[in-house]
Amino acid sequence: MEDRLQGLLTEARSLIGEATSLDEIETLRVNILGRKGTLTALLKGLADLPPEQKPVLGKLANQIKEQILAVLEDARRVLGEAEQQRRTVEGAVDVTLPGRRLPAGGTHPITRVTDDVCAIFKRLGFSVAQGPEIELDYYNFEALNIPKDHPARQMQDTFYVSDDVVLRTHTSPVQVRVMEKQQPPVKVVVPGRVYRCDSDLTHTPMFDQIEGLLVDKAVTFADLKGVLVAFLHAFFGSSAGVRFRPSYFPFTEPSAEVDIECVMCKGKGCRVCGQTGWLEILGCGMVDPAVYKFVNYDPEEFTGFAFGMGVERLAMLRYGIDDLRLFFANDLRFLRQF
Ligand code: PHE
Repeated sequence: MEDRLQGLLTEARSLIGEATSLDEIETLRVNILGRKGTLTALLKGLADLPPEQKPVLGKLANQIKEQILAVLEDARRVLGEAEQQRRTVEGAVDVTLPGRRLPAGGTHPITRVTDDVCAIFKRLGFSVAQGPEIELDYYNFEALNIPKDHPARQMQDTFYVSDDVVLRTHTSPVQVRVMEKQQPPVKVVVPGRVYRCDSDLTHTPMFDQIEGLLVDKAVTFADLKGVLVAFLHAFFGSSAGVRFRPSYFPFTEPSAEVDIECVMCKGKGCRVCGQTGWLEILGCGMVDPAVYKFVNYDPEEFTGFAFGMGVERLAMLRYGIDDLRLFFANDLRFLRQF
């Protein structure tokens, strides 16, 4: 009996020593000390022993039970700590990792170019003005020296809302709105959307323009040239070639169109510039005195110049984009590049 008790202790020690989890320890406790456990079974054998041996072996059995309990307790503590440690490591937050950023929205290339252009003109002392996209025929045409039967109306394929109301075909009507409200000096740029009933590879029914207007005493064509060349050099770089060509607009006289040396071929001639080496970039001119009549400016006292440019055109040249439609497709793969 004594041997069996000692044997049980030895066996229990080694089994408990091999246990790797708290669950296994609990199973061992039940198997050894539980009501149907090995020690309990041994103790039942005590009843059959001669009376003088009972107290001795009973005492030994109790000591052995105590020792097994102590071993179980030790193992439980050690494994408990290990398990706690493991859980801490697994569930831990690594504070040295960089945080997860929310995907930031980007500025659309058209907005970006608009902002850049306005920033350049602000540095030159211009302020920014705006006007309505749904415009009166009066501002879009009439007050810009384009009467109803004027052939120049056919230059612009107009969306008519009604006889007197149009979707503005250019930002020039804002010139009139600004001059109506104030006497010179006037120095504004006007970014905005414009609409023309025209849609093909190089035209969209809606596009963006930036208008400029400067009216003051003794403003000359030299001022016009100086401001526009300064702008184009700021925007495209100071090495970009610039040329002025005579042109016609009903609301400016004289008028010009400005070309920039082709940014793709550096003036050598390529597909983009139609082998000419030049790209048309804006229209401009001295404000026609006929326009001053509509806003009560004295043409003997004031002169000024105006210009208008297409933002998509500027953006295509700056970023080397060859398809206008990309600006309006809202394809994130395209937009994320800016
Ligand atoms: N409004 C003209 C256009 O859309 C451009 C322009 C503006 C020309 C101002 C001269 C002066 O084509």
